[in-house]
Amino acid sequence: MVPNQMVRMNQGQGETSYTRNSSIQNAQQNRMKPLIEAAIVDFCSSSINTGSLFPRKMLIADLGCSSGPNALALVSIALEAIHNHCLQLQQTPPEVCLLLNDLPENDFNTVVKNLVTLRQSNKPLVMIGVTPGSFYERLFTSGSLHLVCSSSSLQWLSKAPEHLTRNQIPAYDIDEHARRERLPIVLEAYAQQFREDFTLFLQLRAKELVSGGRMVLSLIGRPSYIIDSEFFHLWEIVAQILSVMASEGVIDKANFDSFYVPLYGPSCKELREIIQEEGSFSIREMREQDPTTDYDNAFMTPSRFLNHLRAIFEPIIVQHFGEVMDEFARTAERRWSVEGSMQDERARNPRVMLVVSLAKA
Ligand SMILES: C[S@@+](CC[C@H](N)C(=O)[O-])C[C@H]1O[C@@H](n2cnc3c(N)ncnc32)[C@H](O)[C@@H]1O
Repeated sequence: MVPNQMVRMNQGQGETSYTRNSSIQNAQQNRMKPLIEAAIVDFCSSSINTGSLFPRKMLIADLGCSSGPNALALVSIALEAIHNHCLQLQQTPPEVCLLLNDLPENDFNTVVKNLVTLRQSNKPLVMIGVTPGSFYERLFTSGSLHLVCSSSSLQWLSKAPEHLTRNQIPAYDIDEHARRERLPIVLEAYAQQFREDFTLFLQLRAKELVSGGRMVLSLIGRPSYIIDSEFFHLWEIVAQILSVMASEGVIDKANFDSFYVPLYGPSCKELREIIQEEGSFSIREMREQDPTTDYDNAFMTPSRFLNHLRAIFEPIIVQHFGEVMDEFARTAERRWSVEGSMQDERARNPRVMLVVSLAKA
């Protein structure tokens, strides 16, 4: 396994960029709006109920913001919620500091320009900043944050499971029989890595949030009706395309066997158990949402779906295999040339968005 795998999204404004292929994720951010609004109202009310004054300053962070229009979506929702709540209560709005985090390789240049515009256009006094780094490390000072948001990012692990990389167990065997046989080992290794990473994430944020501080998180997961033994990878469609390329000799088979995408989609139950075991947060609300609601499936043509996959996976594929994306695109197009085949493939890999609202105990 390559340390520091390129888990960032495709940069720039081109046809396969994350900027132009993230409307599904944006729809998910909009579905988080009621939970973010409720978290703001709750936080402000509990400050007053515990005898403190209405908050005079609030520090809000979005973790895994990426770039493009989505980077500002969650902090904008939070800002508007603060503004509306203060108007309703006729309170002076607090000074708000907005901090955007992603990995250092993220395209922060455009993010900063847009942040400056946001700063100028809003009523509460807004300070802005970026915090490059991994959300699996300490990012902020102790007891400084009031609200943490994150959308479609926490399914990314800190690394591929070591049990697989150390023992050279392929995450996706080309041979279907071997793949089925090894599935429980592979799945457990990914689930264990997620457990470790998400526990660490909760511990770190518990240190950084003020008492009563809130988190609203969404991440890709697996539907609760799917039993573990049927579930494969969130990146199964990508693995299938690459496995065709490996069996046709376009990429080296040994190289394919050592390719691991550090991505895991937990079930609602798994997520709940980890939060409860870690113990720093109480669950205010937890929902399983269909990511395709409010989304016109007819809009998702094979070429759009390919761009969507490239926007997310191109950096990690190119880092491992070199310049193979033209061949990747041709292989995918061939696979989906029969009408309805892409839709069937997507239907065989169902996923949900898990949304959870947490309060620091
Ligand atoms: C699918 S994008 C989601 C972006 C945005 N939040 C949205 O909803 O459109 C996932 C983002 O998480 C970031 N990411 C993955 N692992 C991370 C980590 N350990 N620390 C910080 N950011 C991370 C990636 O770089 C990427 O920008």
